[in-house]
Amino acid sequence: MEVVIVEDAAKGGALVAQAIARLLAGRPDALIGVATGSTPVPVYEALAALARRGEADLSRARVAQLDEYVGLPPGHPESYRSVLARQVLEPLGVPEGSFLGPDGTAGDIRAACEAYDRALAAAGGVDLQLLGIGTDGHIGFNEPCSSLTSRTRIKTLTERTRADNARFFGHDVGQVPRHVITQGVGTILEARHVVLLATGEAKAEAVAATVEGPLSARCPSSALQLHPHATVVADEAAASRLE
Ligand code: F6R
Repeated sequence: MEVVIVEDAAKGGALVAQAIARLLAGRPDALIGVATGSTPVPVYEALAALARRGEADLSRARVAQLDEYVGLPPGHPESYRSVLARQVLEPLGVPEGSFLGPDGTAGDIRAACEAYDRALAAAGGVDLQLLGIGTDGHIGFNEPCSSLTSRTRIKTLTERTRADNARFFGHDVGQVPRHVITQGVGTILEARHVVLLATGEAKAEAVAATVEGPLSARCPSSALQLHPHATVVADEAAASRLE
């Protein structure tokens, strides 16, 4: 695992955006796995700036969603599909047909999860998976004690994660869905390159456990220690508990 420490979130976003642009320069139809939440926003902004300057071309890129809330009505502004349309597809000019995601509104969620894993494999697998990290060490929504070989499936969010995400739902934790579909830890590890971006002091403990802690399902992000090409990009605050 390589660890890159940057000054702040903007520098981290720029660095990851450049890595994505380089990948696309060599492989224009690369499949980029994208996360939601606050952390990746500077990446998407930096990528949009590169695209405007003609230094990144996403016209043939394919994009795959990491996770999704279960039960939000189609088109809900906080469904991750809607968030990614606003933050990635529209600003970066990625055609809707190049987007892969799990169906959080499906009647048969289990079948939808299995279908998504099949769709990722049929697309040739993810070339670069961008991840954020939860304060409890979750990646995707693989909460602590998730199997490190898990596949895409339905998970129940912990109260800590629901509280962390309440800011997207008018600070009303009661509005945060209880269930999500998430790529499993095993699914995430199949990406050819995994890039975890962590910013802010609140992530410092989770980053230390990811990089220096024991490999343990109690900290699902520690599974990245097993990956042959994993990069952790942390700003100084998020890296502050590394030894
Ligand atoms: C979101 C996701 C989550 C977030 C994590 C951190 O798609 O997979 O693992 O990356 O909850 O969220 P932020 O970046 O909002 O702190």
